[in-house]
Amino acid sequence: MRVSIDKAAELLTAGEVVAVPTETVYGLAASLTNPYAISEIYSLKGRPANNPLIIHLSAPQQIENFASIIPEGFYSLAEAFWPGPFTVVLPIFTDKVPASACAGLPTGAFRVPNHPLARRLIDITGPLVMPSANLSGRPSATCVEHVEKDFGSHFPVLDGGACTCGVESTILYWQQGEQKWQVARLGAIAPEAFQSVLKYLPDVIDASMGGKKPLCPGQLYRHYAPEATLTLARMIPEGAQGVVVGFEDRSYPAGCRVIALGRSSDPETAAHRLYAVLRRLDQEGIGQAWVDIDFPEEGLWLTLKERLIKASKCL
Ligand code: TXA
Ligand code: MG
Repeated sequence: MRVSIDKAAELLTAGEVVAVPTETVYGLAASLTNPYAISEIYSLKGRPANNPLIIHLSAPQQIENFASIIPEGFYSLAEAFWPGPFTVVLPIFTDKVPASACAGLPTGAFRVPNHPLARRLIDITGPLVMPSANLSGRPSATCVEHVEKDFGSHFPVLDGGACTCGVESTILYWQQGEQKWQVARLGAIAPEAFQSVLKYLPDVIDASMGGKKPLCPGQLYRHYAPEATLTLARMIPEGAQGVVVGFEDRSYPAGCRVIALGRSSDPETAAHRLYAVLRRLDQEGIGQAWVDIDFPEEGLWLTLKERLIKASKCL
């Protein structure tokens, strides 16, 4: 059920869960002050209880109400990347954040989104927790139809159109001991973009990219996955049949049907389309698809590769 911003605010204030657009993906929102609504998010998504949620604020300064450490460099990052697809994980005052929002951890994740409706809504309701608005483990939702597919047409959703980025925020994690930031989840902002602000390139800690134990509990699980079995390949073998998720400016074996992520020089469009393409495989009842991952090892391409690796594996 599509609701107005006033209705969305009314429902959230009354302790309901509402789907809300952001520039990355749609989120399933609840008021940070309502532990019952927060637990409803976990049950609606089928989300493991040890996977914490991101707290969405409408202005960077609000973080001071929750974070017990504001590291040097934080406000430079906030100025460069907020509002936007950027999340920080910092130590928190544990009495200021419901334990369910941060899964009992002594840290919290914070983001100021850049979607005008999300920001106006948070201005009215106060901070909202929002995981991506998809069933746990499934591809994220980048338009209202995706939310309705997962939660039903009666579920309240604020329609903000198609999400511009199409992949989730990049998460930077503050390592207090080492006094440095690390990338805990690749996302819409490439790690290289942080270098000019931080004066160093933050390490990417991600098991699927050959890294160490993940810093985000959510990275432990199978994610973003359609029903279809995905076979990732840098070169689709000659004689292959069936569907290829690939690029409109590349050629593939004659027996293949191509579902395009865009052009091979355009990672932004590929990111924007990624979850819609994965969802389309299921809509069309496609059981197996090749995926062309002949990507450069840099920038937003790394995020796309990470999402596809997670979507293709049974973890
Ligand atoms: O773009 C986004 O970030 C979207 C939109 C809706 O804002 N949200 C999103 O939320 O992607 P979700 O729940 O799908 O992913 C949040 C990730 C999970 O991997 C979770 O483990 C991690 O953030 N996370 C949250 N709090 C954390 C914490 N205190 N420490 C480490 N990781 C944390
Ligand atoms: Mg998610």
